[in-house]
Amino acid sequence: MSLQIFTSRNSIVNHENDSQSKDLLIQFLLQVADIPLHLMTAQQLKTLVEKLDRSDSLLNLVKKNTLFKPDRVGLKNLLGNEFISILVVASLPQQRSIIHRHGQSLEVALVLQGTLTSQFFKMTEDQELKLDREVEVSAGDIVCTERYEYHSIINKSSSKVVSLHFHSPGLIE
Ligand SMILES: [Fe+2]
Repeated sequence: MSLQIFTSRNSIVNHENDSQSKDLLIQFLLQVADIPLHLMTAQQLKTLVEKLDRSDSLLNLVKKNTLFKPDRVGLKNLLGNEFISILVVASLPQQRSIIHRHGQSLEVALVLQGTLTSQFFKMTEDQELKLDREVEVSAGDIVCTERYEYHSIINKSSSKVVSLHFHSPGLIE
């Protein structure tokens, strides 16, 4: 596969001078693109994310794209195309995302700083979303969300949290 896939509806932002992290992400993207989108499992995506080299270069790229917002969880798109989107998610203490789902996209979240709480919800027969389970994820750990699964993230801690969220197929805006 050529790097053509980087030329159209996709982006790697704010790191024009950082070829090492760009190479890492291209390698990652090629591995993701090797698996048919509809066959990718959360476990497969998790394995690819675990193997991603968390080099200083990549961590610096994440840092440059980390945005804490006073009123809500900060989101910044690091890379996005039809195969994968990678978001930097930054949350201050007590901030939470809305409950949401990503349709046919899997989500694998790697926590880079702090401890993130991930909540999963089930739809009842009365069409209400009820909390099903809750997972605490420390820095270095990963939490997976299946296709069509309702979830939200919360920073229940007293420190800042930064996490990297991988969605496949990519979230098309
Ligand atoms: Fe999500």
